[in-house]
Amino acid sequence: MTSMDVIVSLCKRRGFVFQSSEIYGGTGSCWDYGPLGVELKNNIKRVWWRDFVQQRDDMVGLDASILMHATVWKASGHVDSFTDPMVDCRECKRRFRADQVDELAWTHYCESTKGNKFTIPAGEACRHCGARRTLCPECGKGQLTAPRQFNLMFRTFMGPVEEDASVTYLRPETAQGIFVNFDNVLQSTRRKLPFGVGQIGKAFRNEITPGNFIFRTREFEQMEIEFFVNPHETIDGRPADEHWHDRWIAECQAWFTRYGLQPDHVKLHEHARDELAHYSKRTVDLLYHFPMGWSELMGIANRTDYDLKQHAKFSGKSLTWFDEERKEHLVPFVIEPSAGVDRALLAFLLDAYREEEVRGEKRVVLRFHPELAPVKIAVLPLLKKRPEIVATGQDLRARLARRWVAIYDDTAAIGRLYRRQDEVGTPYCVTVDVKTVGDLGKGEVGDQRVTIRERDSMQQIRVPIADLESVFARLLGDTPWADVAAAYPSADG
Ligand code: GAP
Repeated sequence: MTSMDVIVSLCKRRGFVFQSSEIYGGTGSCWDYGPLGVELKNNIKRVWWRDFVQQRDDMVGLDASILMHATVWKASGHVDSFTDPMVDCRECKRRFRADQVDELAWTHYCESTKGNKFTIPAGEACRHCGARRTLCPECGKGQLTAPRQFNLMFRTFMGPVEEDASVTYLRPETAQGIFVNFDNVLQSTRRKLPFGVGQIGKAFRNEITPGNFIFRTREFEQMEIEFFVNPHETIDGRPADEHWHDRWIAECQAWFTRYGLQPDHVKLHEHARDELAHYSKRTVDLLYHFPMGWSELMGIANRTDYDLKQHAKFSGKSLTWFDEERKEHLVPFVIEPSAGVDRALLAFLLDAYREEEVRGEKRVVLRFHPELAPVKIAVLPLLKKRPEIVATGQDLRARLARRWVAIYDDTAAIGRLYRRQDEVGTPYCVTVDVKTVGDLGKGEVGDQRVTIRERDSMQQIRVPIADLESVFARLLGDTPWADVAAAYPSADG
């Protein structure tokens, strides 16, 4: 299992993820996506949107605003129930989640060793005096307050006056934007049940204990679907909501493995009755084997008709669908597959990471699915002192960049350039060499062929420049490397 430290360090070194406002000491649990990170993140969102919204005929998209009417959050239950129990240290003023405080290593000043300071693993007693933690785990000195409920929504004010009437919240989930637009979508698209609305966007939660890099942050992105079904319909003898819930669980799991997660790194977790959110009939989480243990990658909940009914009650508007067969208005049930973009990105990074030994040297490679790889093609000159090689390489990059993310790099020797591209997961490198351009001084025109190197196998083939675009259209489509490579001579030396 790849450690989190290795991934954090790679992310910073190669420009995937930086700490937010780092030059000022960083902002608690906020992260910035660097040049490669933004490409990777956009690819995850693009592929999700294409597969779940554009390619399905039972889905449409939406992009609701982050700031919504404050009553939305009353109706959804977030104002009253979106809380965590927290305790504060009376001494150092640090804040902890009451239900997680025993899961932390704790600081102890041991009386039986003249007050020496020890850090004791979570849940264990002091080896010297047998004491267990009663004080603040961080400073080891302060008493903790009794638990108090702490609302996780970020509060702000709309307009120039900071008064109660102008209070609003940064949305803690994108889902509510879909519920409040249910009737708008229905009226504008004339959809029949079942149909779903997909949305990708930022969400904000004032988490008490964020951490594990981009796993739990205060600002993050969600990819959510609200899939509306007819609760009176039965499919294969089962209520439609239960049928669709199982289908979405299977589709989400298949999606993550299709784009690179190892099947044995993903498993389902069925919520027990006492774990279920107030709106849920059944919730299943997709867990991923993160370095800190099995943790939630996404959730797939059956939210019943709770949200639409709540918004109808608070807004006074009817949020129903007219069932032509039964000649009645009904409130659809909702299946909600809800995934975090940042968690998905972390999982794809962890599963892509490999350390291999090649001819006695360590090779770090990110085996990203080509659709997710931030850079698809790197064009590399074998000799940067030869102007014809450089010009040909730059020209090729410009041509390929019209269709794919392609870069040109001549800042090191070829071996080092390949390693750099392996480390960021670029599936293909194109090398321009002396044979490509020939030697004009000697009247040679070159063979006008370049070498394509495949990241995972490191095999190389020699391809005419004229074929490059059609070759990459196949390679970056669905054609396996072996099928394409079979048509060209090997360039392996
Ligand atoms: N609308 C349902 C909903 O928001 P959730 O389980 O609270 O459900 C869904 O969140 C997903 O959003 C999670 O499975 C996770 O991937 C992501 N997520 C939630 N809180 C997060 C946080 N603080 N940081 C990063 N991702 C988070």
